[in-house]
Amino acid sequence: DLNIFTTKHSLGQFLQEIRDTNKTIGFVPTMGALHEGHLSLIEQARQANDEVVCSIFVNPSQFNDPKDLEKYPRTIEADIKMLEKGNCDILFNPPVSEIYDANEKWHLNIGEAEHLLEGKFRPGHYQGVTQVVYKLFNIVKPDTAFFGQKDYQQFMIINHMVKQLAMPVKLVMCPILREADGLAMSSRNIHLTAADRQHALILSKTLNWVKDNFSRDNLAALKEQADNMIINESGVEPDYFEIADADTLHPATENSKSIIALVAAKVGKTRLIDNVFLVDR
Ligand code: PAJ
Repeated sequence: DLNIFTTKHSLGQFLQEIRDTNKTIGFVPTMGALHEGHLSLIEQARQANDEVVCSIFVNPSQFNDPKDLEKYPRTIEADIKMLEKGNCDILFNPPVSEIYDANEKWHLNIGEAEHLLEGKFRPGHYQGVTQVVYKLFNIVKPDTAFFGQKDYQQFMIINHMVKQLAMPVKLVMCPILREADGLAMSSRNIHLTAADRQHALILSKTLNWVKDNFSRDNLAALKEQADNMIINESGVEPDYFEIADADTLHPATENSKSIIALVAAKVGKTRLIDNVFLVDR
């Protein structure tokens, strides 16, 4: 049975009883419009913990574009059904007023990652993400929290936050779930028109091409070829395609220990991201 809470207080009381019996809590924070990718996180949390908490909260502070926030999909009825199907124990679905005071201005200084890749194109986005995840961790106090590789930069930044603030939570990064044709699952995919949906395939295709043709000594040529593949797809406007050092998110060098290719592009009116490891740790 799925237990649903909308206040910090009621959730906190329920979770304290669980902790008092020495059960472990796995946590999957989301913004809802759940899909199989989210469910895969719930599954991993399920396997490793006694109790699984999912949060659904469309966090206003991480949307740099008010229109994007407004049109973010909200499908709570269907989400609840999916969570029941996925054997999730607890849903935390608070209103904005439960998470933020009227005039909340603080944010964490997350360093240079704020200005790289996603940070460059979504000013303030990661300040909003760290702000809400910091609060959610304080509310849920999970043993382990599960995030998707789909948002690799987000995972890196949260990982830094947890380390630097010595937060007592273990993080797990879960693989990207894809549609049969390669498109990375995303809550935003429902905004794609049929034509967009076809054009969007160029993102995973390009990433796979780069992976198949990867060698450390032709990084510049690979990036140029990838840029061209994406630019040449009609209806697709890239924000960036980067072959990055997976530890720093700066452009990879021949000495980078692990290397990841990351892409962000507008497909029609919808902004999509995707990535693939070229050299794993
Ligand atoms: P949201 O976009 O709903 O994603 C919730 C979690 O699901 C994230 O960790 C994300 O990486 C993961 N996810 C999304 N698509 C996935 C896919 N195709 N395969 C595997 N995992 C996938 O990310 C957020 O929400 C928010 O920024 C949040 C962390 C909740 C803070 O508001």
